[in-house]
Amino acid sequence: MQETGLMHDIVHTGVPGLDELLNGGIPRGTTIILEGNPGTGKTTLGIQFLLEGARQYGESGIYITFEELPEQIYRDMSGFGWDLRELERQNKLRIICLEPDVLLDQMMRTDGLFEQLIREIDCKRVVIDSISLFRTLAGLGNDGREQIYSIRNIMRKFDLTAFFLREYGETEGRSTPFENYVCDGIIRLSLREHLEKYRKRTVEILKMRGTCIVEGEHHYRFMKDGICILPALSMVEDKILSDGVERLSTGIESLDELLLGGLPQGSAFMLDSNSKANYKYLMNSILAERLKRGDCVLFMLSGLSSVETIEQTLELFGASLKEAAAEERVFFIDHYHRKVEREYENLVIHVDRLSNEEYQKKVYEAINPHFRETMVQGKRWFIHYDLNTIISERGREFIKRNFADEMARCRAAGITVLCQTNFTEIGLETSSFLERASNGVIRTWVDGSYQYLQITKSPGGRMSAPHIVDNIRDRPYVRLI
Ligand SMILES: Nc1ncnc2c1ncn2[C@@H]1O[C@H](COP(=O)(O)OP(=O)(O)OP(=O)(O)O)[C@@H](O)[C@H]1O
Ligand SMILES: [Mg+2]
Repeated sequence: MQETGLMHDIVHTGVPGLDELLNGGIPRGTTIILEGNPGTGKTTLGIQFLLEGARQYGESGIYITFEELPEQIYRDMSGFGWDLRELERQNKLRIICLEPDVLLDQMMRTDGLFEQLIREIDCKRVVIDSISLFRTLAGLGNDGREQIYSIRNIMRKFDLTAFFLREYGETEGRSTPFENYVCDGIIRLSLREHLEKYRKRTVEILKMRGTCIVEGEHHYRFMKDGICILPALSMVEDKILSDGVERLSTGIESLDELLLGGLPQGSAFMLDSNSKANYKYLMNSILAERLKRGDCVLFMLSGLSSVETIEQTLELFGASLKEAAAEERVFFIDHYHRKVEREYENLVIHVDRLSNEEYQKKVYEAINPHFRETMVQGKRWFIHYDLNTIISERGREFIKRNFADEMARCRAAGITVLCQTNFTEIGLETSSFLERASNGVIRTWVDGSYQYLQITKSPGGRMSAPHIVDNIRDRPYVRLI
């Protein structure tokens, strides 16, 4: 036996979108229940699994049906432009219609019809439409478990990857049917009312041994060439930022993984957290990592974070703010006119009691010369922008007028920006504007006794699943699970 599911040989279904939900595909030799109400597309998906196996992966398949004649299936599936007869001629497919007890009988025999057939076409995939009939046939007092169990074992014996189709309504309201335990996976197709406007078709993977899955309900559609699944949480990719751009590590391995390596250089990300969530570790890990790698960092100080507190926190992460100050790699914007140690005096831009125009001018004039100088040296810049402070000191209008513009300029100059914000507090209108104007959003929040983190927008186009933020004793003090 293999130790991990990852070591299994994977069978790609070839059905658009489905393999993505299955982390590549189905472990070879497993038996999957494909259930759904009448008309949800079980037959279509089953045939498509065999067809794509033959067309894309050179794997032959057998479709066993108890209810429909092959003629009916040829006809129904020709609507998708599938010529199943041709595949049969090429020995890549067999569609057979027989009685369930005949099937069982032939399967149990050494060198029976079934075994011969498998050898004849070197069969790798099987679909049985449907196992519901075993229950009816078995009669009262028996739920067909013996028959289903035997067939499952035969699939395993020949290392066949199988779909057992099942009517969904049939098992509803009863105790968990026995085959849910013996089969390795369950895929459910549903069709129901949505918002009283239209009917939505969704697919959900309820179980899949040996592979991780993308949880949740995913829409699927009948296209002119078959079923196409649209994995939830996927959006249009931002090509420029997802291809060939350097990734800046966040210092938290599990977060880097979610971000496909880190924050893309030149991107603007939001770190959205509510007041209960501890965003400090996340933020400081990212900032410390920048300093340790020799980047220049511009800090926007808030009422709560002074140069002093930043120095202390960054030290926890092994970064020395003083050292960076000596190298003139750190700058601070302060709205509260606080005194700082001598080492930092020339690096703080005091912007209290300035109008918005004066503020912009002062920051620009203070930073620009350093920026030019360091860019020539090939240094990277990182800006920590505290939007809560900007909103309370400069107003919402200021953000709306300037934010998109500033982010575009940063992006063009390869400057990476991380904005700290609290979307719930700043209101829907401003927050949706900010979300649109940025390339990515990392959300962290507390619910009950857990803190969660989710990438809700990213240039790669992916949203992540929500992860739990777990505290650990050593640096970087947090990890995602
Ligand atoms: N191009 C299409 N566009 C929309 N719906 C389609 C298209 N092609 C087929 N369908 C729908 O798919 C359904 C048939 O799918 P299929 O036979 O695979 O379902 P099934 O789950 O096997 O149903 P049953 O339980 O009756 O065997 C039909 O109800 C039909 O309305
Ligand atoms: Mg059917």
